[in-house]
Amino acid sequence: MCGIIGILGKGDVSNALLDGLRRLEYRGYDSTGIATLVNSRIERRRAKGKISNLEVLLQKEPLSGSTGIGHTRWATHGRPSENNAHPHATDKVAVVHNGIIENFQELRDELSKQGHVFTTETDTETVAHLLTHLLAQGKTPEQAMAITMSRLQGAFSLAIMFADRSDLMAGARRGSPLAVGYGDGEMFLGSDAMALAPYTNRICYLEEDDWALLTRDGATIYNGDKRVNREVRQTALSGALIGKGNYRHFMMKEIAEQPTVIGDTLQAFVNPLARRIELPKLPVDLARLSRLTIVACGTAYLAGYVAKYWLEKIARLPVEIDVASEFRYRAAPLDADGATLVISQSGETADTLAALRYAKAQGHKILAVLNVPESTIGRESDLVLHTLAGPEIGVASTKAFTTQLVVLAALAIATARARGAIDAKREAELSAALLEVPARAAEVLNHDETLKAIALKVAEARDVLFLGRGASYPIAMEGALKLKEISYIHAEGYAAGEMKHGPIALIDETVPVIVVAPSDDLFEKTASNLQEVRARGGRVIFFSDADGIRRLGAEAMAAVELPKVDPFVAPILYAIPVQLLAYHAAVAKGTDVDQPRNLAKSVTVE
Ligand code: G6P
Repeated sequence: MCGIIGILGKGDVSNALLDGLRRLEYRGYDSTGIATLVNSRIERRRAKGKISNLEVLLQKEPLSGSTGIGHTRWATHGRPSENNAHPHATDKVAVVHNGIIENFQELRDELSKQGHVFTTETDTETVAHLLTHLLAQGKTPEQAMAITMSRLQGAFSLAIMFADRSDLMAGARRGSPLAVGYGDGEMFLGSDAMALAPYTNRICYLEEDDWALLTRDGATIYNGDKRVNREVRQTALSGALIGKGNYRHFMMKEIAEQPTVIGDTLQAFVNPLARRIELPKLPVDLARLSRLTIVACGTAYLAGYVAKYWLEKIARLPVEIDVASEFRYRAAPLDADGATLVISQSGETADTLAALRYAKAQGHKILAVLNVPESTIGRESDLVLHTLAGPEIGVASTKAFTTQLVVLAALAIATARARGAIDAKREAELSAALLEVPARAAEVLNHDETLKAIALKVAEARDVLFLGRGASYPIAMEGALKLKEISYIHAEGYAAGEMKHGPIALIDETVPVIVVAPSDDLFEKTASNLQEVRARGGRVIFFSDADGIRRLGAEAMAAVELPKVDPFVAPILYAIPVQLLAYHAAVAKGTDVDQPRNLAKSVTVE
């Protein structure tokens, strides 16, 4: 979602702003822009579409100036267009913004009455006019910022520059992340540390309602009217731009990295010699927990859904799971002896963060499974279990998902042990099954060509159905989610047993039905559902192991034989063919695989 960069530099900053925007590109956007101060005048260059369009514009019409702000916009108020692209500016103030100003209409009406003329459809422009109005009344930038913060409602982060003050920049955060970077005679603002990594590793994350005034010598941070001190930390992020290696797309690179990053994550949680799970000290007693509430969004939610099956089945722990956007408004009563687990790749998803805060306010301890421990969710959780997936750039989550599953599997085993639901022998078996996953995942990747051939057929379909039972049901949902987000083919993931209560009506020879069915204790039931599809002329694509394929492979239009593993770890492995299928279908359709239309990587609005 929208990305912000701001630089108080030593020399011209427009190239550095462009680089920063490239590093924020992965978040998803539909227009871009930068503004600099040229002889105390705000100059802007903005373009619809990709950063390369802005780059072309800057080649034709370069921008000088050592004070500048930049933005990648993911449209909320106002369609993607050059005019709606940020920075938004008056002759006094330029603003870039991530989030939503909820009371923008009220402010706009008020300022219009005072003679301000609005030229865009955005909520952001209001902030530029409000500040301009306050400055015209003789307020200092500091006073104007304090008043603006008290007037704005909603969730946002902002970077602001002032026409007559090339030595000054302001930043603000409420609900959306913003980092201040400390350089040597230079200062920075960025949506995340990744954007700032080439310039500095000294980062301070603003906290809720903080706003900051930056000069080239440092930052003064305020919360409301009070000056506050915030910790400056070292970040380990590399300044090198993450590349695609030999791959055509980040998504394929990230799919291929899974054996490695799953292995890295396992090393952090499984002792291979003792075949025992070793978690950091938890803020909750797993043995006494009455219920675990899991909240997440998108693919992370589906990882949580798999964990529900694991925790209930092997650890006998009741689990409630919901998408964060529903959970936070349900006013759900939470068990006094329960705890909440949030799952997020980015650690910045607005709804997940709000759900965390809700659960915390109910007295729950918060466990978080995160790929970015330095994120806002990381900082507000009681314990972070870190997925070692490394930076994930493709908008469609792949390696973050499977490493989330690995961490959740380890948590399920540890919970089962703590509750006496499994003995040491079973723990060793399950740990051994987990330790095998990297090697088995590498075998799954060898089916790439087969899956590509199947994907060419799937790419012709208008609708696709994914079916699974038990822990394969969330994998079916994940398969459908992946396919629809990157190939734009309508897909649904359904519980295999529920098919006859609705989707069976869709089945004919034009709707491929993908059946995710490792040979486990539910196999026979899923097999019956597969027969129901066949009996109606449906074309089945069958993902199973050698046993399953021996029994049912002949019924399928295509079958992919996956390694035979302990059914406990099957969801981790079966996630990979659904990713590859979606990837190849998207490539066949010629979509923008890494940055699918309308989607954002890090969703920082509700
Ligand atoms: C967006 C992304 C998804 C992701 C979801 C949750 O929709 O496109 O890939 O699963 O947000 O994001 P999170 O960072 O919280 O895991």
